[in-house]
Amino acid sequence: MKIIQVEDGAELSKRAAALIIEKVRQKPTAVLGLATGSTPKGTYEELIKDHLQNGTSYANVKTINLDEYVGLPSENPNSYHYFMRENLFDHLNFTKGNHFIPDGMSQHLDRACQAYEELIRSNPIDLQVLGIGQNGHIGFNEPGTPFDSTTHRVQLTRSTRKANARFFDHFNEVPKEAITMGISSILQSKEIILLASGVKKAEAINRLLKGALTITFPASALNKHDNVTIIADREALSYELNPQHF
Ligand code: F6R
Repeated sequence: MKIIQVEDGAELSKRAAALIIEKVRQKPTAVLGLATGSTPKGTYEELIKDHLQNGTSYANVKTINLDEYVGLPSENPNSYHYFMRENLFDHLNFTKGNHFIPDGMSQHLDRACQAYEELIRSNPIDLQVLGIGQNGHIGFNEPGTPFDSTTHRVQLTRSTRKANARFFDHFNEVPKEAITMGISSILQSKEIILLASGVKKAEAINRLLKGALTITFPASALNKHDNVTIIADREALSYELNPQHF
């Protein structure tokens, strides 16, 4: 695994955006795997800035998102459909129909998962952007998820629901279920960048870099992939310096 150490979230966003822009310039038909959450927001802002200033085109780029809550319609501001429109899709020149996000409103969730997995297999992801949960989750793959998992339904742990509750009015509104690409789906990507910012991620990053390959820490599966870059800021890499703070 390659590590790019940056100072803070702002620099992280610039470095991550630069890698995405480079990929899209090299391959205008690139398939990008995208994440939601706080961490990639600044990266998406940098992509928008670059698009306005330098005209990088996304007309032939496809995007495939990692995950979506079950039961939140796309107009719900907490749905990942909404997040992606607000933070990225509406601001770049994507072609309508080139975005894919799991359908958490499907009446046939198992079938929707299978169709999503087929979509990933037939549109191999050139560059996957990942965040990381404090418990090591990637996508919504919680501890215990098998490494050979494909797109599937998942019961969200209380800790993940609590972490995400900051976006909702009440904890009870946080959905209990989601659809996520599996670990095996993520590992199909040709290249992966994992972004981590802030001291809250330090223990997870330390475990990712030093820890054993174990399903109790889902991100450790990334050690099986040969093209992963971690972009982490000083706080996210601070575990070695201040282990007593954790
Ligand atoms: C989001 C996702 C999650 C987040 C993770 C970190 O699509 O798949 O795994 O990447 O929960 O979230 P933030 O960036 O909000 O700390």
